[in-house]
Amino acid sequence: MSNPTLLILPGDGIGPEVMAEVQRVIDWFGARRGLKFDVSEDLVGGAAYDVHGVPLADATMARAQEVDAVLLGAVGGPKYDVLDFSVKPERGLLRLRKEMDLYANLRPAQCFDALADFSSLKKDVVAGLDIMIVRELTSGVYFGQPRGITTQADGSRVGINTQHYTTEEIRRVARSAFELAKRRNNKVCSMEKANVMESGILWREEVQWVHDNEYPEVELSHMYADNGAMQLVRWPKQFDVIVTDNLFGDILSDCAAMLTGSLGMLPSASLGAPMENGRPKAMYEPVHGSAPDIAGQGKANPIACILSFAMALRYSFDQGDEAMRLEKAIEKVLADGVRTADLMGPEGGTPVSTSGMGDAILAALD
Ligand code: NAI
Ligand code: MG
Repeated sequence: MSNPTLLILPGDGIGPEVMAEVQRVIDWFGARRGLKFDVSEDLVGGAAYDVHGVPLADATMARAQEVDAVLLGAVGGPKYDVLDFSVKPERGLLRLRKEMDLYANLRPAQCFDALADFSSLKKDVVAGLDIMIVRELTSGVYFGQPRGITTQADGSRVGINTQHYTTEEIRRVARSAFELAKRRNNKVCSMEKANVMESGILWREEVQWVHDNEYPEVELSHMYADNGAMQLVRWPKQFDVIVTDNLFGDILSDCAAMLTGSLGMLPSASLGAPMENGRPKAMYEPVHGSAPDIAGQGKANPIACILSFAMALRYSFDQGDEAMRLEKAIEKVLADGVRTADLMGPEGGTPVSTSGMGDAILAALD
């Protein structure tokens, strides 16, 4: 059988720096665990604009549609701020998400014990935390029609966006959440505002429908999103999988992620419909951006990007044990006190470089 295929898109700023460490991890799994991938690399964002005049070339888009998984670093930077909206680096990312139809965005909020002191919450509230937010990514208020800014007869202006969800859009992301729950603790909490929004009523009914008809064995609860935000900071460990729409998911996932510390630690996965081989269309990327303030200095924390690869192992390649091996290695490195600059507390110390963190993780894997 041929090896599974990966397309690596390092992008801009610290993207290539953190992706170099992921490449070493991929090589380690090939050499030491017999887990070999056919890896190809291409350009996205400003790096693609510099060469092709567009933030994502058609050939790259076509390749992304073929591979088993895409790994993306980050895009953007001050150099590209002057560009027209249509060719901004972020458009490359949006095109990938849209054309691959990646409708389920998975954002884990996981607290490594060694970093529990970093949280703005009490240590016992976050220590051992491991929850997953599933955000609908391709519909909702960010895409609904009508939208725009119009001027009324009296000269005052109106800004309009429309929350828009169809039955099938809700059902498919609900299925993603229930599937995830089955691999975890069998518990889903769905969040909307059915008390004030019709789209919320439909959301609640359709998630319940998927549960009753397809996943009756999974525990399902519903919560208004505003209460959900309160509960997330009050006692986050009550949750396992949370499923919610695009807008609430944007806010709730940022909130949940920050329960656990640095932007340099946060991975994500965006999944679409199953391909012919049964694997979902998938793109994995750290939550952080291109960090121009530290780019080119070897200061970036590669863990978010490496954890994104761990998610690929788990969700695209059914290698949950190997994903855990990688996560355990990271946990050990952190417990040993190895820190990049973004993880240094007020007590100070000497940070390791991006590749120094990579070295430590590879040593722990060994
Ligand atoms: P950012 O995430 O790039 O940086 C925010 C802060 O966190 C900076 O101080 C940065 O140094 C730090 N940081 C981020 N990742 C880090 C890491 N791995 N290790 C250590 N420190 C890290 O967000 P910002 O500054 O708002 O945006 C910078 C550029 O990135 C912009 O052009 C923006 O459009 C783009 N961006 C791209 C994203 C993507 O590719 N998915 C997401 C967010 C922003
Ligand atoms: Mg956000």
